[in-house]
Amino acid sequence: MRVKIVAGNWKMNKTASETAALIDEIIKATAGTHVEVVVCPPFTSLKDAAAACTGSHVKLGAQNVHWEVSGAYTGEVSAEMLKELGVTHVIIGHSERRQYFGETDETVNKRTKAALAAGLVPIVCVGETLEERDSGKMDEVIVRQVKLGLTDLDVGKVVIAYEPVWAIGTGRTATPAQAQEAHALIRRTLAEIVGGAIANSVRIQYGGSMKPDNAKELMGQPDIDGGLIGGAALKADSFAAIVNG
Ligand code: 13P
Repeated sequence: MRVKIVAGNWKMNKTASETAALIDEIIKATAGTHVEVVVCPPFTSLKDAAAACTGSHVKLGAQNVHWEVSGAYTGEVSAEMLKELGVTHVIIGHSERRQYFGETDETVNKRTKAALAAGLVPIVCVGETLEERDSGKMDEVIVRQVKLGLTDLDVGKVVIAYEPVWAIGTGRTATPAQAQEAHALIRRTLAEIVGGAIANSVRIQYGGSMKPDNAKELMGQPDIDGGLIGGAALKADSFAAIVNG
């Protein structure tokens, strides 16, 4: 039985002073849930967020991590720095980082290894663009991202997020059947790499315009184990409605 995991990717939203209030509301609105709940605010909010999460069921994630422990990497943040603040999860390889900031399968792999080495749970994002889907390359892209992103590491400790790029922030959600097809492909690919037992234990989140009105059906699919939520994670009521089903 895979425990469902719903994470809010706040992206570049909410200042530090706006963070605690939203987390307090989320804690109250999701009390008693059996779902693993994670919030991923910007780096600048992590300290306040950690204080707000303390003693609650809500866990704290960051949105990126560098692969080195320390050094001359201007603008980057290491896994140890995140750990010290109380971060337990980290999003890696989000499509916005791949599209706008030069993230590659190789850097995703390095960041994921660093996260695991520090004991953080990596949420590794994969997903095809509309152009790749329309030209019949969806399977190839997803399989490549999974295999290269997860090379030579402990796959059983990773969470994967399938986020079709065309569904992110567009209001155009993948249908439950489309999402299930991709998730099943990801699980088959994992089984090829590490065998069926571990593949069956890995949680695969869906992300891309997930909202309270479509979350239940998406998360009801056999290979969909939660959600990575963008826009709907910025309000406690919509995020909690997704968590609470
Ligand atoms: P939206 O839910 O805003 O489409 O964003 C999804 C996403 O990118 C989560 O990482």
